Amino acid sequence: MRQVWITKAGAPEVLEVKEAPDPSPAAGQMRIRVEATGVNFADIMGRLGIYPDLPPMPVVVGYEVGGRVDAVGNGVHPDWVGRDVFAMTRFGGYSDVVCVPEAQVFARPADMSAEQGAAIPVNYFTAWQLVVVMGGLRAGETVLVHSAGGGVGIAATQIAKNIGASVIGTASKGKHEFLRGIGVDMLIDYRTEDFEKRTMELTGGRGVELILDAVGGDSFKKGFRVLAPTGRLGMFGMSSAAVGKERNIMAALKTVASMPWLQFNPPALLNANKGVFGVNLGHLWDQVPRIRGWADDLLALWDKGIVRPHVDKVFPFAEAAAAHHYIQDRKNIGKVLLRP
Ligand SMILES: NC(=O)c1ccc[n+]([C@@H]2O[C@H](COP(=O)([O-])OP(=O)(O)OC[C@H]3O[C@@H](n4cnc5c(N)ncnc54)[C@H](OP(=O)(O)O)[C@@H]3O)[C@@H](O)[C@H]2O)c1
Repeated sequence: MRQVWITKAGAPEVLEVKEAPDPSPAAGQMRIRVEATGVNFADIMGRLGIYPDLPPMPVVVGYEVGGRVDAVGNGVHPDWVGRDVFAMTRFGGYSDVVCVPEAQVFARPADMSAEQGAAIPVNYFTAWQLVVVMGGLRAGETVLVHSAGGGVGIAATQIAKNIGASVIGTASKGKHEFLRGIGVDMLIDYRTEDFEKRTMELTGGRGVELILDAVGGDSFKKGFRVLAPTGRLGMFGMSSAAVGKERNIMAALKTVASMPWLQFNPPALLNANKGVFGVNLGHLWDQVPRIRGWADDLLALWDKGIVRPHVDKVFPFAEAAAAHHYIQDRKNIGKVLLRP
């Protein structure tokens, strides 16, 4: 098999393709011939050496793949062989062959490509947890989606619009036209405008009922201030800690230090009628049966044409470094994938 390795912490060029013998599926596993694998911001944080969950380097990252089952281990029904699937991988997804426990594999609908399948797990399960499971978004409410042009942002927008909510998105200017096209109601260019001030203007001083924020640091503080009474702030990442293309621990620590360590105390929450919650899909591996329930709901929305990942660009394994540059240069609208 061929795999893309993070050989050490550093610039995207530390990514290298290496070969190894094909793995065999253990009991309870399926082996998938991968046609597309998802690139996520967590992989970039991992490459920068600032992702706490990363196994020791050198390491093959990757949380999701789309492809076809070509072998099964003991205890898995042989009917799976030959079926088109997408799957969650606990690292190791940057490979042209993966072996995955059956519970992490989902049959692909006939009209879902391997690329679309690979674009679903991380972005859509995270968005579902944020918007529906923990955010409790309802029709008529307004949600502020940061990095609306990213994979999670687009997934969250599709889910929120289907609920009947209004969406305010923050994104680099070049993504605004696309985002308007998928139904984002109001847009903020957070690189030239203060999102706190703009959000209050756009909502006539009322604020928003839900915020999805993976920028982190100071952004959490500002978000808390723009929550309307009964509003909820969903925190799910710290992309502002990814400063530059090389490892920069000091810059990452600065983001950590600027988080609202003191603002979210019980009296503050209680008196303001505001809620804060956190989401980390990568810490839910013991909840896979529950996530399968979310997948059922999302696949029902796929059938209605509501869930539709936007695949922006697919890079061959040999150009994995270019894929990481593309995301860090903030060029992507939606999903970036690798093709073996
Ligand atoms: N907790 C979880 O379970 C979970 C799961 C999935 C993702 N996440 C987090 O959610 C965030 C978005 O993920 P995604 O997969 O949707 O992102 P993505 O598709 O990789 O998009 C990244 C986008 O984020 C924006 N951005 C904001 N700060 C940035 C920075 N310092 N460097 C580069 N880009 C930056 C850029 O768009 P604009 O310039 O247009 O804003 C960029 O295009 C990431 O922080 C990720 O770690 C968390």
